[in-house]
Amino acid sequence: MTLIPGDGIGPEVIAAAARVMEAAGGRFRWDVQKAGKAAFDECGTPIPDALIRSIRRNRVGFKGPLETQVGRVGYRSVNVALRKTFDLYANVRPIRTLPGVRSPFSGVDLIVVRENTEDVYSGIEHQIAPGVVESVKVITARASRRIARYAFELAGRERRRRVTSIHKANIMKLSDGLFLACARQVAKRHARIKYDELIVDNACMQLVLRPQEFDVLLLENLYGDIVSDLCAGLVGGLGLVPGANIGNRVAIFEAVHGTAPDIAGKGVANPLAAIFSGVMLLRHVGQPAAADRLERAALRLLAERRTRTRDLGGTATTAQVTERLEALLSR
Ligand code: NAI
Repeated sequence: MTLIPGDGIGPEVIAAAARVMEAAGGRFRWDVQKAGKAAFDECGTPIPDALIRSIRRNRVGFKGPLETQVGRVGYRSVNVALRKTFDLYANVRPIRTLPGVRSPFSGVDLIVVRENTEDVYSGIEHQIAPGVVESVKVITARASRRIARYAFELAGRERRRRVTSIHKANIMKLSDGLFLACARQVAKRHARIKYDELIVDNACMQLVLRPQEFDVLLLENLYGDIVSDLCAGLVGGLGLVPGANIGNRVAIFEAVHGTAPDIAGKGVANPLAAIFSGVMLLRHVGQPAAADRLERAALRLLAERRTRTRDLGGTATTAQVTERLEALLSR
């Protein structure tokens, strides 16, 4: 399995997650690889060939966040490059109310399914004239149908009742219109799952008013990126929300959060988002007993309310959370 510690808080939370995944009975041979800033500083490229070879060989990756500089400076996003290289077309982010976590809502249990390979993330941008820049949004029927199929099949597997497409087809009539047309076609083949649509701005308002009413959300890349963080905020923040990038051959698991430069290196990052991503990984690689054990221990730790990092209102360090989880796992 390819292990990418990543940048910022990445090495801290990935080390914690790897430890408790093993303590829960997960069996791996980790192949540790550098990417992003760590790789750039050492080998002059943020995506070394050794990393690509390792992921191709192992077909499963566990990854910390990678730094991408804002604006014109620096290299293009390594996350986007990895998703494109391995055609990791579905970004799946389960978001649910967790025990012992203070939040304005209870009973939230939704899954964000984000198209992961196109939209404005194609990175096609150019200056047309001084002061005028064009950024191209690419939406294809193939990718739209594929992500819609993924969302409905996931909904079926997870016994979900509803898929909601979130869009801005009132303005982007062709691109978002195509995305919706594909989703509608796929919906027709899944009569047992209710299908509906919401314009993205209205969806954001509904999500912060009545998040309990949502089930599976189907979104293009950019809306999915933004709405995932919004949804993370509904259940206690980025320190808790896991994710998976799924393709036909390769899958890479990672938390929704970024490198958190404001707290990197201080040993105070919440490792639970990485740990819940590890739970998803364990299920994906056919180790459900270890996954269940780890998930139960993490939920118990939260419910105890005594060992919590600062983002959850506590004072515990990453190491203390990890040690407490190990203690719960050894019972
Ligand atoms: P961020 O997610 O790194 O941080 C946002 C806020 O959430 C910060 O206040 C941070 O301290 C807090 N936070 C995030 N994770 C936390 C955790 N585990 N425990 C406690 N607090 C946590 O988002 P930001 O600041 O927008 O991005 C920073 C960098 O991360 C950028 O270079 C960005 O490109 C990169 N990034 C990488 C991602 C990836 O590799 N998948 C995803 C998102 C951002």
